[in-house]
Amino acid sequence: FANRTAIRGAYVTFTDNPFAAGDNAAMHFEPDGLIIIDDGVITFSGNYADGAGLVQGHPVTHYTDAVILPGFIDTHVHYPQLQMIGAYGAQLIDWLNTYTFVAEQQYADLDYARQVSGVFLDELIRTGTTTAAVYCTAHPNSVTGFFEAAQRRNMRMIAGKVLMDRNAPEALCDTAQSGFDDSLALINTWHGKGRLHYAITPRFAPTSTEAQLEAAGALWQAHPDTYMQTHVSENLDEVAWVKSLFPERQNYLDVYAHYGLVGPRAVFGHAIHLEPAEWDLMASSGSSISHCPTSNTFLGSGLFDFKRAFQPKAPHQAVRTGLASDVGGGTSLSMLRCMGEAYKVGQLGGYSVSAAKAFYMATRGAAKALYLEDRIGSIAPGFDGDLVVLNRKSTPLLQFRDAYCNSIEEALFVLMTLGDDRATQAVYVAGDLAYVAAAEAD
Ligand code: GUN
Ligand code: FE
Repeated sequence: FANRTAIRGAYVTFTDNPFAAGDNAAMHFEPDGLIIIDDGVITFSGNYADGAGLVQGHPVTHYTDAVILPGFIDTHVHYPQLQMIGAYGAQLIDWLNTYTFVAEQQYADLDYARQVSGVFLDELIRTGTTTAAVYCTAHPNSVTGFFEAAQRRNMRMIAGKVLMDRNAPEALCDTAQSGFDDSLALINTWHGKGRLHYAITPRFAPTSTEAQLEAAGALWQAHPDTYMQTHVSENLDEVAWVKSLFPERQNYLDVYAHYGLVGPRAVFGHAIHLEPAEWDLMASSGSSISHCPTSNTFLGSGLFDFKRAFQPKAPHQAVRTGLASDVGGGTSLSMLRCMGEAYKVGQLGGYSVSAAKAFYMATRGAAKALYLEDRIGSIAPGFDGDLVVLNRKSTPLLQFRDAYCNSIEEALFVLMTLGDDRATQAVYVAGDLAYVAAAEAD
């Protein structure tokens, strides 16, 4: 093989959904594993002894004190908000007007978009995230700059131009027609190019006219293999605002449904204050939810209902749900930090999110939410060679604490509670080493 990567070490992957099947049945732990990636795709994964013959004479990178996982997947994040992450004192609507809509105006400039995209993607890799569903801004340049940067790094990325034609500053508004035309041109240029996917991206119902939502629905119908991403039911004032703007619709999600914006590959951020009918429609339409815990606590939005999403009264009512950072509403790009916060959100709502469930939501569960569960999010033959190697002992405290871990579950739980970007030892993108932590001085 011209381009083979061989890695030895402990790894974890999910063969089933731990929320439904139980943690033990769903999580596969290989204490001494071998992963072979040929030309970007995994061709062998299993016990080292079983595969050693396949790599005789070939260099094998051996990670000790580490656990290897599928590269993390962030199902909802705004790269143009990197410059105002950690903005003080506001809840959603004020936060958008005071900070977000100011920052996003800079992305008319292609060079600026390129520059921040590079910072963003390098930072994602440094935290172990190899795929994300990304909001750009209303400017086509914000998408061009982003996709150029993603293509250079060969990362599997989903992104799109934000559609917004009301209730926002003039400089951030398109029109129903120009938003449609610009999105279509971007689909034609980028969708399906290498590892890139386009997402039709109406920001949320309050910033789009009915004409714009209708155009978005028509565009998605004409390009059904693209994504549709938006926000839903994040904040109680937002929900009341949507009710006043669309009085004829039954609920928030029904606004999107009315314009043909629900279904497989529709990805809804937040989904905190959903009514029972909205949960039912999420499930029956095959739509997905991005759970954004650090954002939901930081902006004071509310507590996500894990139980309704993953363990409803009947299995067919479960909703594909992935973890997400929602930076800059979220406070960290690290999916470990998102998992730690998801646990706290669960605790406040009376549901304990185990390590298996949290890591699932950032890997295979997120891949399912993006309908990419046959491509990414698992360590198995046929999957993309996107991996993160986590150092179990990346800080003095973790080094001390890890010695007291009696199982892989406990080690993973400690990592998601205490770990952050410092735990990233190495990252592989399509089989290529994309990041390696600086060697520690002894
Ligand atoms: N709702 C509409 N736009 C946004 C955004 O940029 N961030 C978050 N968290 N919620 C939104
Ligand atoms: Fe968001």
